[in-house]
Amino acid sequence: RSAAYAGDLLDVAAIPRRQVEALLRLAASLKVKQRRGVPHRLLAGKTLGLLFQKPSTRTRVSFEAGMNQLGGHALSLPMADIQLSRGETVADTARVLSRYLDGIVVRTYDHATVEEWAREATMPVINGLTDHSHPCQALSDLLTIQEIKGRLKGLTIAYVGDGNNVANSLIEAAAKMGMRMTVGCPVGYQPDQHVVDRARAEAETTGAEIEVMDNPQVAVKEADVVYTDVWISMGREREQARRLKTLSPYQLNGRLLQKAKPDAIVMHCLPAHRGEEITAEVLDGPQSVVIDQAENRLHMQKAILVQLLSNKKGGT
Ligand code: CP
Ligand code: NVA
Repeated sequence: RSAAYAGDLLDVAAIPRRQVEALLRLAASLKVKQRRGVPHRLLAGKTLGLLFQKPSTRTRVSFEAGMNQLGGHALSLPMADIQLSRGETVADTARVLSRYLDGIVVRTYDHATVEEWAREATMPVINGLTDHSHPCQALSDLLTIQEIKGRLKGLTIAYVGDGNNVANSLIEAAAKMGMRMTVGCPVGYQPDQHVVDRARAEAETTGAEIEVMDNPQVAVKEADVVYTDVWISMGREREQARRLKTLSPYQLNGRLLQKAKPDAIVMHCLPAHRGEEITAEVLDGPQSVVIDQAENRLHMQKAILVQLLSNKKGGT
């Protein structure tokens, strides 16, 4: 098991496949327990910090509710209320908070910041989204796909639009689980080449296939899952006009969805902008699973918390 995963969850690529499989099993069993009202206070007495430098509805609330359901406590740390906002270093903050907390979720801009948190903290650090990746989203999405399609290996997942943080993590997840992933994004908006290269290397051992193209119709053809995300991610607001123009041919609408398999499911990590990356007809239509998908953030993140917070960082 890799050192990175022993303590932290920064990226899907760093997690061994059998650990992802264990997370999927654990998340499914925690979901059943929660639905049946069976107590599962596996993290009683533990405290999770939530440090969000960008807005969040799903990630923050599902981690907080999940920690509560596991018998622990979650503590929101709004930037404005902590000394980090007045220039205290990440290193000092991470070292001190590690003496109080059992783990922390960090949502920030630069991926290097969560890497610094992971280096400096002696508690597990969970990436709650950076400009580069969104691993909790992609792991939850694997659970959703597996529940609906009954398997992961061999399925085709098509991602269209902006090759952003969500796309990067989905590529890593698809490569790990032996899926075929077709990405249709305009040149200049394609996923991180390093992520694609590493995923293709992993795909050689898992049987996955990762294809990146600029044609959304070809990407979606015969797909089992069609996925899109916003064109203007948090922090990209100044690029709005150019992005709306360049990305408009990549809208997930009824016509594009027809190219996929008739039983294809539509996924979106939310929040969505109806009329931009996806039409209301598709997002709110019968093939959309976006609300179930959002629910699964709770169950998968509870599994992540149980795996990471039950162990000491760097331990086995
Ligand atoms: N999908 C997702 O991470 O949503 P939030 O920004 O609301 O957390
Ligand atoms: N790509 C989006 C995802 C939001 C959950 C963003 O980074 O804003």
